[in-house]
Amino acid sequence: MRSTTPSSIILLALCAIPALSAPIQHTLAPRTENSLNWTDCSAYPWLRSKDLQCGNITVPVDWAAPSGETFTLRMVRLPRPANATRPRVGSLFINPGGPGGSGVTAVANIASGFEPVSEEILHSFDLIGVDPRGVQQSVESICDSAIWAERVSLFPKTQEEYDRLVDKNRRLGESCRAQMGSVVDHLDTISAARDHEAVRAALGEDMNWLGISYGSMLGAQYAQLFPGKIRTMVFDGVLQHSRSEWDNARIETTAYAASLRKFFDWAETNDESALKGRDVEKFWYELLAKARQTPIQNPWCNYTNIPPQFRDCREDVNEEDILFNTQGLLLTTRQQNRVFLAEALVKASQGNADDFASSLPMSFNPSLFAGITIGCQDWAPTDSSFEDLQAKMRMVEEAASLTKGASQTWTLQASCIGWPNAPKNPPAKLNIKTQDPILLVNSLRDPSTSYEWAVGMQDEIEKSVLLTRNGDGHTSWSLSGATRVAIDHYLITEELPAPGTVLDS
Ligand SMILES: *[C@@H]1O[C@H](CO)[C@@H](O)[C@H](O)[C@H]1NC(C)=O
Ligand SMILES: *[C@@H]1O[C@H](CO)[C@@H](O)[C@H](O)[C@H]1NC(C)=O
Ligand SMILES: *[C@@H]1O[C@H](CO)[C@@H](O)[C@H](O)[C@H]1NC(C)=O
Ligand SMILES: *[C@@H]1O[C@H](CO)[C@@H](O)[C@H](O)[C@H]1NC(C)=O
Repeated sequence: MRSTTPSSIILLALCAIPALSAPIQHTLAPRTENSLNWTDCSAYPWLRSKDLQCGNITVPVDWAAPSGETFTLRMVRLPRPANATRPRVGSLFINPGGPGGSGVTAVANIASGFEPVSEEILHSFDLIGVDPRGVQQSVESICDSAIWAERVSLFPKTQEEYDRLVDKNRRLGESCRAQMGSVVDHLDTISAARDHEAVRAALGEDMNWLGISYGSMLGAQYAQLFPGKIRTMVFDGVLQHSRSEWDNARIETTAYAASLRKFFDWAETNDESALKGRDVEKFWYELLAKARQTPIQNPWCNYTNIPPQFRDCREDVNEEDILFNTQGLLLTTRQQNRVFLAEALVKASQGNADDFASSLPMSFNPSLFAGITIGCQDWAPTDSSFEDLQAKMRMVEEAASLTKGASQTWTLQASCIGWPNAPKNPPAKLNIKTQDPILLVNSLRDPSTSYEWAVGMQDEIEKSVLLTRNGDGHTSWSLSGATRVAIDHYLITEELPAPGTVLDS
């Protein structure tokens, strides 16, 4: 997934939590005979890289009943090049987040050069991308697109609006079960962690894990269950699952609001900003009010004659669309992204809000469903009534008036009220005891995975080192800066940055 910005003095104090930092030479498990049979990926032409190999294993739907129903878990491998200039270190699992993100796509993007990765990593590791259960190649989540497309408020102001939200959630959940069967009850992150252990065991090597955003939560569950199997583990953009529903709703929306505030400051003063010289906060609230009164058009999505299940976007944009989708536009804070957001806001104020339109899962592109089918197994909504939700709405709006409490956490929490299957993995504090420290990485002003989660996560891991990037944007490895260099160096050598390290890029 995805603050107040405390003063740097406090942050430095928090970073200086003692942790092991001396490089420890880990004895690699001997590489046992690989029981995974890799084939070329010609069956999946969209993967587009001849270097990529495809594999699969059979895993139980319910790990508590291993001899029961099974399904096929699919994955790809990008092997080191034959002429690699460095010794082989092992296999590196990459999970890009979500919930609902595809490890297959993440590694395919690296193989095709779309996502640049250092030569050091490519020459040291075979990269492994698994589609977690419920995602794309591994029993894709499929629900009813027409139900998904129904507009309901995630901030219901009346009992009637609340009832509509809960009713939609229930019907959507039932539609997923109708199409997916019993696996829909087992899409929780613990089950996914067990799947990844089955893959690691089949590879016969120690685990090297790069978990980005929600990938950090999946990695943490893995480390809780299989601490002795790990060589290196990186959580980049830390998602702390265990905090209370109230805490997490506040933590994420304040992180988003702080990033939005920082964007406003940039937009008011930067020469490249379409909003230069304006009072951008005032502009923002006026735009929200306008969209609240009458949704703003999205001319790119004018599918009057296309039935709902074939639409991939909404034809108009309301206040909630702007609130929730602006967070996504702040995840990357390169100059061109800021320029884009400023222009998008101006364009929306002039009647074209296409950049803020919510995506819809089409019947032939259902990847959005996985976020909910998995998420509702991990985040149990405690709000059993309209009054409870009202109280939580007041709390988040008070904490973050710029974002009015919107965040990905809020979306999940509101979308799971009334979900028909009870969560298998409700929030619980972990107690991770690995032999060597886990590397946590977070930017100070991440609009999604708040620095507060990274700091909090240290309480759940006996040995960890927190590497701080003094910067903006969601996660760090995908940026080509010193933080990425430090992550790569750790993965290859097991040498951790000194506790309390703060890097600027
Ligand atoms: C790989 O192939 C061998 C030989 O055909 C087979 O015994 C084994 O079960 C296969 N492994 C997997 C994970 O399917
Ligand atoms: C699993 O991989 C094997 C190659 O090892 C392939 O022959 C088979 O078709 C795959 N099975 C599925 C269900 O994708
Ligand atoms: C390794 O092989 C690739 C692909 O064949 C080639 O493009 C590259 O130049 C080679 N690198 C070295 C160091 O030989
Ligand atoms: C959408 O399409 C209809 C029919 O083609 C047209 O009359 C209408 O103006 C369009 N709306 C927008 C916002 O472009």
